[in-house]
Amino acid sequence: MDIETALEDYPKDIELQDGCKCSMRPLQSSDQKALFDFFQAIPEQERMFIKHKVSNPEVIQNWCDNIDYAKILPLLVTDGTHIMGNASLHQQLGGWKRHIGRISVLVHPDFRGRGIAKVLVTELLELCRNIGLEKAEAEFIETQTRAINTFSQLEFTKLLELPDYVKDMQAITHDYILMGRELKTDEEYAGMG
Ligand SMILES: CC(C)(COP(=O)(O)OP(=O)(O)OC[C@H]1O[C@@H](n2cnc3c(N)ncnc32)[C@H](O)[C@@H]1OP(=O)(O)O)[C@@H](O)C(=O)NCCC(=O)NCCS
Repeated sequence: MDIETALEDYPKDIELQDGCKCSMRPLQSSDQKALFDFFQAIPEQERMFIKHKVSNPEVIQNWCDNIDYAKILPLLVTDGTHIMGNASLHQQLGGWKRHIGRISVLVHPDFRGRGIAKVLVTELLELCRNIGLEKAEAEFIETQTRAINTFSQLEFTKLLELPDYVKDMQAITHDYILMGRELKTDEEYAGMG
């Protein structure tokens, strides 16, 4: 199915491990302020590892003004006021990696340890299957051990590690880690693939 059809199921009501009731839905252009506030809450030290300059309101505005779910699908967990977590599915709509979805995830520091990252990544994996992707991957630097743990629990394994290969926003070099996992499409589950 195409991504627009897959997104018809949202918003979805979800309940966190602690019983907190929230909603899961794609980012909308009206989320600009909430998304900016979300990134402002991320400690400066951690923001260095984000690939974009998210402290710049224009960067956030540009994202919210140019939403294209087929290329980047940002999926949010929200309590109606705050963005509690954001995971994105990135697709290359052609080329060698057209069958691979890349997933990244970030959870608001006040809402960590409640299963939000797991819920979001699990949901995006299901979405990847529904739209026919065959593999999922995720990129890390060596210090992101919590995130590496989260993805390991969701059956991602380390595909490669390149020492001192990437630079953060402060131009400090880090080891680059690529994790990935296979996905089964609905047809394969049904034994037709
Ligand atoms: C990594 C991150 C996304 C986890 O979010 P979260 O919502 O707190 O994670 P969850 O509650 O779903 O927990 C998932 C797993 O993460 C790990 N984890 C969560 N909190 C942890 C902690 N305080 N210490 C160590 N591991 C922890 C555990 O393996 C946990 O599994 P468990 O619940 O079975 O113990 C969050 O810490 C974050 O946003 N970090 C910064 C951004 C980042 O590194 N992103 C990755 C780039 S792809």
